[in-house]
Amino acid sequence: MKQKINTISEKITLLNKTILDSMAEKDKGAIVKNFTENSIKILGADFGFAWWKFSDSDEYKLAYKSPSTPYNPFLPRNKASHYTAIKTRRPLFKSTIKKEDYGSSNITPYMKSFVIIPIYHKQYIYGSITLCYKKQHNFTEEEITLSQAIGHTTAQAITTHRLLKTDALLREEKSKTEFIANATHELRTPLAVMKGNIDLALIDKKNSKLAHQALEAVDIEIDILSNIFKDLALLTSPKNRKNLINPIDINITNLLEKTIKRLETIAAEKNIEIKIETPENPKHQNIFVLGDEEYLNKLFLNLITNAIAYGKNDGSVFIGISKNKDFVKIKIVDDGMGISKEDLPKIFDRFYRADKAHNSYGNHSGLGLAIVKWITEIHGGMIKVQSIHGKGSIFTVTLPISSQLN
Ligand SMILES: Nc1ncnc2c1ncn2[C@@H]1O[C@H](COP(=O)(O)OP(=O)(O)OP(=O)(O)O)[C@@H](O)[C@H]1O
Ligand SMILES: [Mg+2]
Repeated sequence: MKQKINTISEKITLLNKTILDSMAEKDKGAIVKNFTENSIKILGADFGFAWWKFSDSDEYKLAYKSPSTPYNPFLPRNKASHYTAIKTRRPLFKSTIKKEDYGSSNITPYMKSFVIIPIYHKQYIYGSITLCYKKQHNFTEEEITLSQAIGHTTAQAITTHRLLKTDALLREEKSKTEFIANATHELRTPLAVMKGNIDLALIDKKNSKLAHQALEAVDIEIDILSNIFKDLALLTSPKNRKNLINPIDINITNLLEKTIKRLETIAAEKNIEIKIETPENPKHQNIFVLGDEEYLNKLFLNLITNAIAYGKNDGSVFIGISKNKDFVKIKIVDDGMGISKEDLPKIFDRFYRADKAHNSYGNHSGLGLAIVKWITEIHGGMIKVQSIHGKGSIFTVTLPISSQLN
């Protein structure tokens, strides 16, 4: 049923709603369509269309015409009413159309009256909306005011859309620049260490022990570099970004137990005890996740390594596994240095490292949690962190359970 709007406040409300709705639109064309259709309702016209300038060219194109438009609108000619409306920046009302004003392109069979509303903001002319009446129509004061409101609100919506788009582009550009700067920084350090050591080995012609030590140092840096490259490839390669290739059912408790075993020696260096708590109900002890074993290994290896690296000497790391109907929840709790409120929102960013001065031990590049987040998400899961600076952190990973086996 056709929606009826009668009062001026209903008409203004519809215009305001159209502005709000247009915020969610990706496409300029969709905004023009919404405004044209709602303007037809507001001014009680029979049909309408919009001429629009796209991508900053000077030419106008038909951006929208209502399905009931009985003819193909003619491109606005010089001196045509469209140009007059735009030049004067006022809606142009024609209550009576004279056939002789339109030469060969006679529009009188299709309409008896029209209004052309220019859409502009400051020096930018976006286009115009034409609303047409099949029967002769005399415009009231209220309709004249509403036509101006239509012009202003459409321009407002389009301007907001442009600003939002520019903002998104700027943010994307900024994050790319930051990424390149960080990557360059991370790669430069191992290269500098290698260069220094190779120089040393080359100078030292006789002392083969020193040369050997230097080459060993180079070897370590090459490993670090190749790990950074592997992590970067994982995070930036588009083919890795989509879905899992050949996922299989993985017993998450077994996987975690194996990961903990691998990390026992490095935990022992700090005298950190790792405890694991599996669900008491034996039915819940075999929890399967449909996923990629190598990625899931990497996910928990990173989280538990962090818990140890940023944990305190003689402290403990607790790993809790729990299950509800569709999800398994894995908590990794440490009683270490914790993360400050300012750092907390950034730790999942690529290359972000909190409190760099205190954080210089180990070969950390700050890619770990970016990978953790990515792996969690491609498994359809979620990761959350809670932390108190100086007290410890809790990382909670939630993963969907494989429906076949649970
Ligand atoms: N359990 C934790 N306790 C305290 N701080 C943490 C913890 N986990 C991560 N962080 C902070 O978050 C930062 C980012 O962690 P992430 O694992 O991404 O990088 P990294 O450990 O510095 O380097 P990488 O994991 O690439 O070797 C760390 O530098 C650290 O400051
Ligand atoms: Mg890490």
